[in-house]
Amino acid sequence: MEKYPGKKNTAVFISGRGSNLKSLIKYSRKKNSLIKIILVISNNPDAKGLKYASRSKIKIYRIKSKSNFENNSIKLLKKFNIDILCLAGFMKILSGNFIKKFSKPILNIHPSLLPKYKGLNTHERAIKNKDRFAGASIHKVTEKLDSGKVILQKKVKILKSDNVKSLEKKVLKIEHEIYPKAIDKFLTNF
Ligand code: GAR
Repeated sequence: MEKYPGKKNTAVFISGRGSNLKSLIKYSRKKNSLIKIILVISNNPDAKGLKYASRSKIKIYRIKSKSNFENNSIKLLKKFNIDILCLAGFMKILSGNFIKKFSKPILNIHPSLLPKYKGLNTHERAIKNKDRFAGASIHKVTEKLDSGKVILQKKVKILKSDNVKSLEKKVLKIEHEIYPKAIDKFLTNF
């Protein structure tokens, strides 16, 4: 049985380039997708992803990190009846208070095979440790950084010839593939 029937009102938080946002917007516009992206919020006023969102006729909000980001964004999430929040390259840590106040699911994409390499510089650390695989994970957001239950993850092989840049490119490609799949999985039978 579907846990979340109908398209869910979705908000996306970004901080930069927005390539995952783009893949989510593309997915959301498919007939069978389970989400409708209502608004995009960035803590970085210059985030490139905002341009793509506004070209896609999605409401965008710039809320600087220092300007009471959490209270201002919660107000918007409530105003627009947001059912699910997706973090897509959002580089600010949300407080336990925010998570509690919002009270709806929050998902995040992280560029590693969690629980490995929480935090930053994931590809650099995987290469340094001579790992055979890297990858990406979609997980539920909890108070503890990058530690909520993993919904979906996918591996890529690290080749001897890989460097941080080439690995980032490979992982990003699978990120775009698995974030929509993870949302489907989460909203149906997670
Ligand atoms: C992505 O690789 C995402 O996994 C990562 O930032 C990049 C954003 O790219 N997120 C994190 O590191 C979160 N801790 P994008 O702006 O092109 O989607």
